[in-house]
Amino acid sequence: MAMESLRQFLVALSAAAAVGFVSIIFVLRWVLHYKEGLAWDGGLAEFNWHPVLIVSGFIFLQGIAIIVYRLPWTWQCSKLMMKFIHAGLNLVAFIFAVISMVAVFDFHNAAKIPNMYSLHSWLGLIAVILYCLQLVLGVGMYLIPITPVSWRAAFMPLHVFSGLLLFASVIAVALMGITEKLIFGLSNPKYKDSPPEAIFVNVLGVLLVVFGALILWIATRPAWKRPSDQILHILHTNGGGEDNTKVGPALSQLSDGADAETSGDVRRRNNKLDDQTN
Ligand code: HEM
Ligand code: HEM
Repeated sequence: MAMESLRQFLVALSAAAAVGFVSIIFVLRWVLHYKEGLAWDGGLAEFNWHPVLIVSGFIFLQGIAIIVYRLPWTWQCSKLMMKFIHAGLNLVAFIFAVISMVAVFDFHNAAKIPNMYSLHSWLGLIAVILYCLQLVLGVGMYLIPITPVSWRAAFMPLHVFSGLLLFASVIAVALMGITEKLIFGLSNPKYKDSPPEAIFVNVLGVLLVVFGALILWIATRPAWKRPSDQILHILHTNGGGEDNTKVGPALSQLSDGADAETSGDVRRRNNKLDDQTN
C-alpha cells in the first residue's frame, strides 16, 4: 500500500474504532444511567440487554469482522488464519444477537406484551436469520476444503454484497428500535419535549450511522484490499529481499504510482486468480 494510501487507511480505521467505542459507551450510559440498568429478571433491566448486545455485538463486532482482511499488518498472516478470525468474529456477533433476541422475547413474555407486531421486529428477525445463513454459507464455501474453487469464485461477489447489505440493514433496524424505545419509554417529559435522554440517544443513533459509513467506506476501497496470496508469495521469495517480514514496504513499492505499470498488471491478474482460489 502506498504511503499516502496507508495514512488515509489509518485515519479511517481510527475514526471507525473511536466512533464504535463511543457508541458502546453511549448505549451503556443510556441503560445504566437513564434506564433501569442490566439484570436477567424478566423486567425492563432484562430488556436493556437487547440494545447493549446489539450495539456491542451485532453492530461493532460485525463491523470489525468485515474489515479484518483489510488490516495491512495482517497481510503476512496466512489467509486461512484470517478466515478463522473473520468467521470467528462474525460468529461471536451472531451469538450476541441471539442472546439479545432471547432477552427481548423473554421480557415480552414475562410482561405479557405481544411478540413480533412491529416492523422493527420483523426486519430485525429477518436480518438475524439471513445473517445465520450468511455464516453457514461462508463456512461451507470458504472453510470446508472440498468446496470446488469455481463455486468459491462464483459465490464471492454475492458473499460480499449480502454481507454489506446485512451490515447496513442491521444499523437501520437498530435505528428503528431506538426510535421506538424513545417513544415508548419517555413519558414525563415526552420525546417531543426533547429531554436530555432523548438528545443523548439521538446522538447514539447518529454515531451508529457514522460507524456504518466508515466501515462501508473501508470495505469498498479497491486500493485497501488484501493483496492476493500469489503476490505476497512473490514478494516473500523475490521482492522481499533478505528480510521476509518486510512485506508492507515491499508492497508499497509494488503499488506505487509511476513505476508500477507492470506490477499493477501483475497485481490485477493475481487478484483475479486469487478470487478463484479463496
Ligand atoms: C423488539 C430485533 C435493535 C428496541 C425486538 C424484536 C425483535 C428485535 C425480533 C421483537 C421481540 C418480540 O416480539 O418479542 C432487533 C434487532 C436489532 C434490534 C435484530 C438490531 C439490528 C434494537 C435497538 C433497540 C431496540 C438498538 C433500542 C432500544 C426494541 C424495542 C422492542 C424490540 C423497544 C419492543 C417493541 C417491538 O417489538 O418492536 N427487536 N432489535 N431494538 N426492540 Fe429490537
Ligand atoms: C469477505 C461479510 C462470514 C469468508 C467478506 C466481505 C464481507 C463479508 C462484507 C468483504 C470484505 C472485504 O472486501 O474486505 C461476511 C459476513 C459474514 C461472513 C457478514 C457472517 C455473517 C464468512 C465466513 C467465511 C467468510 C464464515 C468463511 C471463512 C470470507 C472470505 C472473504 C470474505 C474468504 C474474502 C476476503 C478477501 O477479499 O480477501 N465477508 N462474511 N465469510 N469473507 Fe465473509
